[in-house]
Amino acid sequence: MSRKRIIAGNWKMNMTPSEAVALVNELKPLVVNEDVDVVFCVPAIDIIPAMEAAKGSNICIGAENMYYEEKGAYTGEISPNMLVDAGVKYVIIGHSERREYFTETDETVNKKVLKAFEHGITPIVCCGETLTQREQGITIDWIHQQIKIAFLNVTADQAKTAVIAYEPIWAIGTGKVATTEQAEEVCAAIRVCIGEIYDEATAEAIRIQYGGSVSASSAPELFTQPDIDGGLVGGASLKPDFGKIVNYNK
Ligand code: 13P
Repeated sequence: MSRKRIIAGNWKMNMTPSEAVALVNELKPLVVNEDVDVVFCVPAIDIIPAMEAAKGSNICIGAENMYYEEKGAYTGEISPNMLVDAGVKYVIIGHSERREYFTETDETVNKKVLKAFEHGITPIVCCGETLTQREQGITIDWIHQQIKIAFLNVTADQAKTAVIAYEPIWAIGTGKVATTEQAEEVCAAIRVCIGEIYDEATAEAIRIQYGGSVSASSAPELFTQPDIDGGLVGGASLKPDFGKIVNYNK
């Protein structure tokens, strides 16, 4: 079974609404590739203007975070219905920066993943180890634990449509991309883990991305590995280089 590649940009805390419109317009002609689902995950305030600018193109606008409650007294949070009403189809859940700076845990990640599915939004579920964990040789155990908790009570039919982003923390924003072998090894181990939680069909269907200093030069080798189904791209998604990343196979 062949999985369609999915390449997503994570803009993080960059781009004002007017800058977002300019960037979408600049990248629109560069990110055309019918073999790839192209997603721009943008700051909440940029979602509507970016959506407007992306109209008629192959770009899908996603969110970088979402709260797990429906509505109410949660000052500063974005609800699933707000995203659905704005036309959002994908949301990044549990990015390592949210875990580090905003006290997200495996448990809150699980609540958000369940809530996203409940509202028909596809979660891009992030996992990844620190450099210390890698050096201690506990990478795979750690990631299996993150995935098992993130997918608690998620059905196989839901999991089949999910996206998992493997992002080694030591490779994020450092220019230090994981080797193809390191990235493939962990993505394959994530697929095994999904197979253990569910079954072979779910493991074959779920899409697994690599993220961490992806560039136009590293993308072609990374994205043609058997278990790497695309990427989650930070810094390079804000530049014309993102066009080359999306067209990694051309
Ligand atoms: P960089 O591509 O800037 O390393 O960021 C990766 C990332 O965190 C994507 O979510």
